Amino acid sequence: MKRTHVTLALIAAVSLAACGKPAEDTRPGQPVKTRQIAFKEMLRVFEPMGTMLRTNQYAPDKFARHAQELMTKRDAPWHHFGPDTFYPPTKAKAEVWSEAERFEREKQDFLKATDELLTAAQTRRQTEAEKAYYKVYDLCQSCHKHFKEK
Ligand code: HEC
Repeated sequence: MKRTHVTLALIAAVSLAACGKPAEDTRPGQPVKTRQIAFKEMLRVFEPMGTMLRTNQYAPDKFARHAQELMTKRDAPWHHFGPDTFYPPTKAKAEVWSEAERFEREKQDFLKATDELLTAAQTRRQTEAEKAYYKVYDLCQSCHKHFKEK
């Protein structure tokens, strides 16, 4: 009887892992969960800008509003990468800490590119907006490639 319970518990644990349900962040202040939420909020304003460009529906004022809003979201995740915050459910790689200088450099490049995106968006010119958007996009991707699990 007892054994059955253990087995069932194991199966439950395995199937939870298999369907990708993340572990809870139980640490005080929930640094991992907090930064993940902050990244998701960044994505929520950034993604519609890309959709607009890809579907040929560039709306200059709306695009500029998103660029402005991105400025209010772009700083939030970084404070939560403290020295002891490499634990489940993080999707960060150990390189965030072992290659801290490179991580910092890529973050600075990203912040600079978002400055440029706002400037470009404010010109209301699509070619400039588009170029600046893809520069930021590439920086999201390149940082993820090196510092984030898929
Ligand atoms: C300098 C590096 C860096 C840059 C630039 C960066 N990210 Fe990330 N991002 C990370 C890391 C590291 C994680 C993993 C965080 C964790 O799980 O602890 C992450 C996680 C995420 C997540 C996943 C959150 C989750 O829980 O699933 C999203 C969404 C995301 N980033 C969006 C973006 C977008 C959009 C951009 C650009 C506008 C961007 N990121 C730029 C490093 C970066």
